[in-house]
Amino acid sequence: MSFSLLKGKKGLVFGALNEKSIAWKTAERACGEGATLVLSNTPVSLRMGTVQELAKKCDTIVIPADAAKVDDLEMVIEQGMEKLGGKFDFVLHSIGMSPNVRKGRTYDDLDYHFLLQTIDVSAISFHKVLQTCRKMDAINEWGSVVALSYIAAQRTLYGYNDMADAKAMLESIARSFGYIYGREKKIRINTISQSPTMTTAGSGIMGFDNLMDFADRMSPLGNATADECADYIITLFSDLTRKVTMQNLYHDGGYSSMGMSLRAMQIYNEGLEYRDVKRN
Ligand SMILES: NC(=O)c1ccc[n+]([C@@H]2O[C@H](COP(=O)([O-])OP(=O)(O)OC[C@H]3O[C@@H](n4cnc5c(N)ncnc54)[C@H](O)[C@@H]3O)[C@@H](O)[C@H]2O)c1
Repeated sequence: MSFSLLKGKKGLVFGALNEKSIAWKTAERACGEGATLVLSNTPVSLRMGTVQELAKKCDTIVIPADAAKVDDLEMVIEQGMEKLGGKFDFVLHSIGMSPNVRKGRTYDDLDYHFLLQTIDVSAISFHKVLQTCRKMDAINEWGSVVALSYIAAQRTLYGYNDMADAKAMLESIARSFGYIYGREKKIRINTISQSPTMTTAGSGIMGFDNLMDFADRMSPLGNATADECADYIITLFSDLTRKVTMQNLYHDGGYSSMGMSLRAMQIYNEGLEYRDVKRN
């Protein structure tokens, strides 16, 4: 169903790898709501993923770029504005990567070179996108920028590793830059803290299936899917949320306000019974 919420708006979307990606769902939804947009992802993801299919669906182009490189970002922004014939009204940063997670290095045995890459790609790239857009005056007044975060920025979750540090920084960048861009151009900047979601990045986290099951049991509304996340992002890109900025917005079915739920307690009780049977 379309409400034409983004009719006439232009967007730049980073991070669509395949049809499971949050950025993919968001781009599809944005086009359905009347937006035109350009896509960007790394050269390697263009070879490994299926983003060209999405480009076809959205009648657009994919501009290869490493979001951690300012030169690449300048090129994406310039080519993107050229393709769309003007400045952007919305930007999605849906980028995350941790070499420590990929290589199985635990938080008490981090490789520090990898840690710097995690922070650079998953957090500082957000600052680079914002700073480059501002220097090139690439976002219209009342534009909207969204990045994807996770509750591990506030609370410790086993296995999330150095991505927790990156997400804490990402959320801080949204506040710090949100002040500057809001003051100057009424541009709003927010992060969405999404439920665990079965995507390529998500499934790289240790014990991800169980984490998803736990979060689902703890959330009164259940986990939010990637499609539902896209719906929420569309509202933030629309003119219906013009005074929402510098926020970290939970999109998690209520998980972030829970301590213990009946459904999670039942599993815990079953586990204890099993332990007692084994003991006796
Ligand atoms: N999946 C989850 O459980 C979950 C939960 C909360 C937040 N998030 C966040 O959502 C965002 C999107 O992830 P996703 O779950 O859709 O997975 P995904 O794997 O589909 O997307 C991650 C994207 O980051 C891109 N990327 C990696 N390094 C890059 C670089 N140097 N330059 C540009 N792009 C780069 C990848 O190519 C990929 O497209 C990430 O920030 C992730 O941390 C995911």
